[in-house]
Amino acid sequence: MDMKIRPRRLRNGELLRKMVRETRVDASSLIYPMFVKEGTGIVEEIPTMPGQFRYSIDTMGEKLAALQEAGVSGVMFFGIPDHKDEVGSGAYDENGIVQKALRKAKAEFPGMYLITDVCMCEYTSHGHCGVLCGHDVNNDETLKLLAKTALSHVQAGADMVAPSDMMDGRVAAIRSELDRNGYVNVPIMSYAVKYASAFYGPFRDAAGSAPAFGDRKSYQMDYHNSREGIKEALLDVEEGADIIMVKPSMSYLDMVTKIKDAVHVPVAAYSVSGEYAMIKAGAAMGYIDEEKIICETAASAFRAGCDIYLTYYAQEIAGYIKEGKIG
Ligand code: PBG
Repeated sequence: MDMKIRPRRLRNGELLRKMVRETRVDASSLIYPMFVKEGTGIVEEIPTMPGQFRYSIDTMGEKLAALQEAGVSGVMFFGIPDHKDEVGSGAYDENGIVQKALRKAKAEFPGMYLITDVCMCEYTSHGHCGVLCGHDVNNDETLKLLAKTALSHVQAGADMVAPSDMMDGRVAAIRSELDRNGYVNVPIMSYAVKYASAFYGPFRDAAGSAPAFGDRKSYQMDYHNSREGIKEALLDVEEGADIIMVKPSMSYLDMVTKIKDAVHVPVAAYSVSGEYAMIKAGAAMGYIDEEKIICETAASAFRAGCDIYLTYYAQEIAGYIKEGKIG
């Protein structure tokens, strides 16, 4: 056959395939989301996320050490408080769960990079991501509390804050509050392109943060839209976001690619709880090969264009990179 161009030529053998690989995965791009809870001696498995745990402050060190050992130094804290109220005061309490976890982690793991999720839903009695006015979230009143929360995280040792509430103007509000207090160099990773998604179901079980009524569709995005995501991302960059996140990841990789083209800041993709749960469940049933699916889904997020990948499988992926199974 006269065929000059044969794509299979470059697939011939592992060494060549790795040489021409277009996407490289590195553990330094991984962030592990971690649940910290009030109490002591707690290592509690999350029923809808087998293999993931809620830790109390005295036990979280074991997981942080294991992550560091595996090569994952980025962690994002989610807090599970004892007490919730209408205005989510646990979110910005200097002795709140995340603030305490930050102080301990900063002291004991100075080599780790500590990020916090800035939101109200784990702390409000109604489970919405801000303060209410009737049955709707009051955007502008919520901004003050989000800024206060972000500042208290940074004062407790957060290296970066990540607002996930989807209120309008929150990046600007947080940026100016941090700057006013001298934290001009603390970056903001904005959950700018965050969809109202059923993929967050297991997380809401894990964090006890399901809304008591209604849903989050008046603040999180409609999953039929993509130009709206670009609008959100551009706005947040203008307000001072240093990193833009797309969330969820797996069903939204088109958005990762579009956002990567639209902005000139690093792009993060968050592989959320429902993605984790589906892989775990499929693997437990024996229908899929967990390890291979983890590698394939992670590589596809990087191939789509993300620079940073948030995943409950961070430790496993770091291991697979070392073993040469992905990378
Ligand atoms: C808080 C927040 C949520 C997630 C991250 N930050 C839940 C939500 O918006 O309902 C979801 C993470 C996951 O599902 O893994 N607003």
